[in-house]
Amino acid sequence: MNEARVAIVTGGAGGIGRAVAERLSADGCRVAVVDLNAEQAGVVAGAIGGLAIQADLAQRADCRRAVDETVAHFGRADILINNAGFQHIAPIADFPEDSWEKLLAVLLTAPFLLTKYVWPQMAGRGWGRVVNVSSIHGKVASPNKAGYVSAKHGLIGLTRTAALEGGSLGITVNAVCPAFVRTALVENQIDDLARTRGISAADVLGQVILEPAAIKRMIEPVEVAALIAYLCSDAAAAVTGAAWDIDLGWTAR
Ligand SMILES: NC(=O)c1ccc[n+]([C@@H]2O[C@H](COP(=O)([O-])OP(=O)(O)OC[C@H]3O[C@@H](n4cnc5c(N)ncnc54)[C@H](O)[C@@H]3O)[C@@H](O)[C@H]2O)c1
Repeated sequence: MNEARVAIVTGGAGGIGRAVAERLSADGCRVAVVDLNAEQAGVVAGAIGGLAIQADLAQRADCRRAVDETVAHFGRADILINNAGFQHIAPIADFPEDSWEKLLAVLLTAPFLLTKYVWPQMAGRGWGRVVNVSSIHGKVASPNKAGYVSAKHGLIGLTRTAALEGGSLGITVNAVCPAFVRTALVENQIDDLARTRGISAADVLGQVILEPAAIKRMIEPVEVAALIAYLCSDAAAAVTGAAWDIDLGWTAR
């Protein structure tokens, strides 16, 4: 690699996104950390010599600006990690319409928009990597997660379509599908899962999170970051259109 590649990591202020930003930086990339949380994005970007961009990815204009500011600052954009996300847990009958719309906006529409906006950068240099952070819930469903499950399934469809279009342009597009990763997103949903399933918070860990898994533990953010770093590497040039499980065997049965 002559000039360092430039990566955009959404949701890079914490959890998986932070681990990805740190790993790609360690691998030699310059990184734009895009997040709703300006303060934390600044902390992460500061630690890796990257660029913090505050953005609400539910807004189309902010998606556009995130790409434009990255290219204005670094002069290019080669890698896009669509990672920003959140969760809302409720049965369909009680699912707030605005939560459904926001989940689809952040988890599915923003990855489409960011891919669209960054595409000319990648196509122009004949090299690009897009990795979409889907989930086990991109492949299987769980009750009370209608918006999340729908968006994550849709994200795999977007991944496959973009992979077909990117094949002749040197752009690979893949999804990763983690089970439960040790982040704030999981910690924040334990109480909601307990309430909607009528079990204790302690039983959520045993029955909901660990019971379906072959390996009974949480996944660490750095483990997901390592898989994403591989998919962003030249070594992974033959991998495209994949939805790669990193789920402790959660979906094996
Ligand atoms: N933690 C898990 O178990 C798990 C499992 C499978 C998939 N995922 C997916 O991994 C991704 C990262 O999740 P995480 O667990 O690291 O969560 P996290 O809550 O630790 O981090 C998510 C980040 O996204 C940012 N974000 C949320 N809404 C945003 C918006 N509108 N605009 C910009 N930024 C926004 C948050 O500020 C936060 O920094 C998500 O897409 C999530 O669905 C997580």
